[in-house]
Amino acid sequence: MASSKRSCQKIFIASLLFISVSLTFLVFSFHPKPDHPEFDDHSETVAHHHKKPLSIDTPKSWFDDLIERKIFSKRIRIGFVNVDDNVKHAYDHLRGQVETVNVNFRPVSGELKWEDFFPEWIDEDARWHEPSCPEVPMPRLEDYRDLDVIVARVPCGNGTEKQGIRDLLRLQVNLVVANLAVVNGLTKGGDDRTVSVIFIGSCGPMQEIFRCDDLMTHLGEYWLYKPELRRLRRMVQMPVGSCLIAPYHKQTGNQENQEYKMAEYSTTRKLNDNELYPQRVAYVTVLHSSEAYVCGAITLAQSIIQSKSTYDLVLLHDSKLTPRSVNGLRDAGWKTKKIQPIRSPFARKDSYNEWNYSKLRLWQLTDYDKLIFIDADLIILKNMDIFFAYPQLSASPNDKVLFNSGIMVIEPSKCLFEDMMSKTNKLRSYNGGDQGFLNEVFTWWHRLPVNLNYLKIFFNEEENPDHQMKNGTYTIHFLGLKPWACYKDYDCNWDMENRNKFASDSAHKRWWNVYDTMPKKLQEFCGLTKHMDARIKKWRGIAQKANLSNGHWKISAKDPRQYHLIQ
Ligand SMILES: *[C@@H]1O[C@H](CO)[C@@H](O)[C@H](O)[C@H]1NC(C)=O
Ligand SMILES: *[C@@H]1O[C@H](CO)[C@@H](O)[C@H](O)[C@H]1NC(C)=O
Ligand SMILES: *[C@@H]1O[C@H](CO)[C@@H](O)[C@H](O)[C@H]1NC(C)=O
Ligand SMILES: *[C@@H]1O[C@H](CO)[C@@H](O)[C@H](O)[C@H]1NC(C)=O
Repeated sequence: MASSKRSCQKIFIASLLFISVSLTFLVFSFHPKPDHPEFDDHSETVAHHHKKPLSIDTPKSWFDDLIERKIFSKRIRIGFVNVDDNVKHAYDHLRGQVETVNVNFRPVSGELKWEDFFPEWIDEDARWHEPSCPEVPMPRLEDYRDLDVIVARVPCGNGTEKQGIRDLLRLQVNLVVANLAVVNGLTKGGDDRTVSVIFIGSCGPMQEIFRCDDLMTHLGEYWLYKPELRRLRRMVQMPVGSCLIAPYHKQTGNQENQEYKMAEYSTTRKLNDNELYPQRVAYVTVLHSSEAYVCGAITLAQSIIQSKSTYDLVLLHDSKLTPRSVNGLRDAGWKTKKIQPIRSPFARKDSYNEWNYSKLRLWQLTDYDKLIFIDADLIILKNMDIFFAYPQLSASPNDKVLFNSGIMVIEPSKCLFEDMMSKTNKLRSYNGGDQGFLNEVFTWWHRLPVNLNYLKIFFNEEENPDHQMKNGTYTIHFLGLKPWACYKDYDCNWDMENRNKFASDSAHKRWWNVYDTMPKKLQEFCGLTKHMDARIKKWRGIAQKANLSNGHWKISAKDPRQYHLIQ
C-alpha cells in the first residue's frame, strides 16, 4: 500500500519533471549555453520550430525547484505519440534514467470526415445491412509495454472557439493514448500500475475521453493527466463514433485485435456490478421559467416508479414554481432541489428558451456518479435502469452529427461544470438552447437506440396514416402540443394542420394510462385552465371549418377536465 503510494508519487514527480524538461529545454534553446553541450546539436532546429515565444505564465521559481530535485531511482519508460523530434530529444540527456519509445500508427485516412463517424441514421436493427464504423488505426498495443508516461501532441483542429472540435486526427491521438494507458495500467492480475499522460497542445485532450477530474496540472500548452483507468477502459470499449449503437443493446464490430474483450452484458446480470453500475445514480429532470411542465414532471416520475425502478428521482427547479407545485412534485416521488437558472447567452429576452442553459446545473449534482436526464415531456414505458451502464455522454441521435438532449447519460463533475460555464459565451448554440451548446461540448458521444428517446413524430403518411406508435419503445417524447394540453379523448395535434405530424392517438393514450393510475391529488396538477380550454375549442372549430380529413374534430369530447377548469 505504502510502496504503491510512493511509486505513484515518484511517477507524478517524474512527470512534472518531464514537463519541466521539455519546457526548460525549449526555454533554454532560445539562448544556447556553452555549458550545456547536449543541447547544442538541436538548439537550431528547436528555435526554428518555435519561433513564437512560449506563453508560460508561471513563476520561474517553479521550474528552478523542479530542476533541482533529485532524479528518481527507477528507470522509467516513456512512449511518444505524435510528437516532434525536438520534444523527443529533450529527454536525451536523461539517458540511463529514462527509456523512450516512439509509438507508430497509421494516421486515419484523409478521405474520411467526421460525418462518416457520426451518421444521422444507422440501420439499428440490421434489417438491410449490419452497421459499421470506418477504421481508426491503432498501434500494435502489445509492442508498447511497461510505459510509465505517455507524451502526446494533440491536434486542435482548424476551427474557431465558436464550435466544438470535430477533428479525426485529434480523436485518433486521444484514442491511441487512452488505449496505451489502459493496456499498460490495467494488468490481468489486477495490480494496477500508474500511467501518467502529458498532452502537448493549446486545446488539451478531448475532455470526453480524458476528464478534467484527472488533470493534475496544466501549464501553457502542457497538460498532465493521471487517468482513472477503469473509467478510461469504458471509453475505449465504446465505438469510435455514433456509427454503431453503443454495446450492450447490440454488440457489433470487429474487436478481435483488441487486447480486452467487450464485457458481455446481459439483461439478467445483477445490477450491483460496481464497474457497470455505479452505486450512486439517479433519474433527473429540470423545470425552469414556468409551471407549464409541472404536470409533465409528475407523470414522468409516476411512470418511472411504475417501471419498478428504485433509484433516486431528482428534480431541479428555479424560483418560478409555487410551493404547492413543489409539494406536488415531491408527492409524485421527486427529491426537489432549487437552483439559480442559467441564461442562454444566444436566446432572445423572454423567449421560450431564454433559461435553457439551466440544464448545465446537472453537472453540479456530484452526490451522484451518474445520472439519466429525462425531459419533463417524456414518459417511460419500461424500465431503463440498464442504461446507467453507459458512460457520459450517451444519447439518442437527433439529426446531422448531433444527439438529442431529451435523454442523456451524464456524469456530474465540478470541474466540467466550471469548464462549460466558461464556454457559454464562446460556443455557439445552433438553436439557442442547451442541445446546441451540449453538442459542441460533447462532439464525441455514444449512440443509444432511437427506441430509448422515441420522438413522437410521423412522416410516413401512406404506410401509417393513423400514426400508430412503434411497439417496444422505452419512452415517448411528446413533441408538439403536450397530452395534458389536449382533451383526454384524442391527440389535439390532429386539429392543427402544421402539427399533424406530431399527432398519435396511440401515444396519447399511453400518457393518459399513466395519468389514470395516479392518485387524484396528483391528477389535480394536470387540470385545464380557461386559456388552455379556449385554445382547444378554437382549433377544433378551425379544423371543422377546414373539414380536416383526419376527422378528429368530429369526436364529441367527454374529458371531464373541461367542466372543472382550474384557476
Ligand atoms: C477545416 O478543414 C476542413 C478540411 O480541410 C475544411 O473542410 C473545413 O472547412 C475547415 N474548417 C475551418 C473552420 O476552416
Ligand atoms: C427550452 O426549454 C423549454 C422549456 O423547458 C422547452 O420547451 C424548449 O424545447 C427548450 N428549447 C431548446 C431549444 O432546447
Ligand atoms: C403493436 O402490438 C400490438 C399488440 O401486440 C398490435 O396490435 C399492434 O398492431 C402493434 N403495432 C405496431 C405499430 O406494430
Ligand atoms: C368534407 O370532406 C369529406 C371527405 O373527406 C367530404 O365527403 C365532404 O363533402 C366534405 N364536406 C364539406 C362541407 O366540404
